[in-house]
Amino acid sequence: MAFDVEAVRAEFPILQRQVNGEPLVYLDSAASAQKPKAVIEAMTRAMEHSYANVHRGLHTLANETTEAYESARRAVAGFIGAGEDEVVFTKGGTEAINLVAAGLGARLGAGDEIVLTQMEHHANIVPWHFLRERLGVVLKFTPVTDAGELDLDAYRNLLGPRTRVVALSHMSNVLGTVNPVMDMTRMAHEAGALVLIDGCQSIVHQPVDVKAIDADFFVFSGHKLYGPTGIGILYGKAERLADLPPYQGGGEMIGEVALERITYADPPHRFEAGTPPILEAIGLGAAIGWLNGLDRRAAAEHEHRLYQRTIKGLSGANWLRIIGEAPGKGAILSFTMEGAHAHDVAQILDRYGVAVRAGTHCAEPLMKRFGVTSSARASFGLYNTEAEVDAFVEALNKTQAFFA
Ligand code: ALA
Repeated sequence: MAFDVEAVRAEFPILQRQVNGEPLVYLDSAASAQKPKAVIEAMTRAMEHSYANVHRGLHTLANETTEAYESARRAVAGFIGAGEDEVVFTKGGTEAINLVAAGLGARLGAGDEIVLTQMEHHANIVPWHFLRERLGVVLKFTPVTDAGELDLDAYRNLLGPRTRVVALSHMSNVLGTVNPVMDMTRMAHEAGALVLIDGCQSIVHQPVDVKAIDADFFVFSGHKLYGPTGIGILYGKAERLADLPPYQGGGEMIGEVALERITYADPPHRFEAGTPPILEAIGLGAAIGWLNGLDRRAAAEHEHRLYQRTIKGLSGANWLRIIGEAPGKGAILSFTMEGAHAHDVAQILDRYGVAVRAGTHCAEPLMKRFGVTSSARASFGLYNTEAEVDAFVEALNKTQAFFA
């Protein structure tokens, strides 16, 4: 299957719009991706045709919606090579990490060690800090090299007899670095630690097989994967989920409730208290169905070409500092411009219809590591084109002229 970017773009109504009188050049997919018609229509169809609460009703609409919701779970499971009961719907990647941290925290105590990395998103730092504050666990951070790779020798040395958990991102949302999660998981397991992988960025750009990675937990969000907001996935090995205490209490996560005692449902329902994000799960299922119809390897090659073209287009720009140049990195370009604040860069680019993110990217320790307080970031999706790369490079040159 060849990759036809124009056919892909035609699936995204928003890409037709203009911004400030210019064609939209959307380079902020790492923050949140745009949505194809398949997702919009699946959610609209559910609301217009077959909607009710799930797992509760005995009437036709309730049964149909429950089937749609569970079929989305099967789609997710198939997409990552997991068992159906190993897939928990959460409201986002962040909630999935908080769920695991809170559950594992119930079994940790003062002096237990958690190994993270310097390139984590705050979502994979703050929940572990809660455990440091509340329990006295010790957080250790794998350093990042100047090129933006993890220092694996240092990582090896951080693992020890008190290491209980290793949590790390598969792909950095700032640097684009793709980490060797399989090796790092093996090393963590050899040290007796459990492993959580934050796959929010990686799963968008490459196929993921959770069994091959062998991590105990793998999380991602729906909205970066061309699905809706308000939905995330926690994959956990069946035996790990079975061992994890519930995160929130409420309806549909229980076995039995009496005045003096309670029992809990089995996973995944134990972790889905209350009315779940039904429409959002259906939307995510549709996004996955749509992605399954594409040649994902060709899509990844397309994104790689876009990144290479960007780097080439900016090769003469001595006023630009690129942050993150790891070999094999994904299509994320973080940069600073000499003499300009990243927020100003983003605002001026917007005048030309170019949407980029600017700030700390929820990764303050990483910003500090590279000695900057903020950066601008262009992140590519499978719907971006070479013409858009050229428009971005041209707009960036014009932006620089403001500050020269
Ligand atoms: N985590 C998202 C980003 O990197 C919001 O922009």
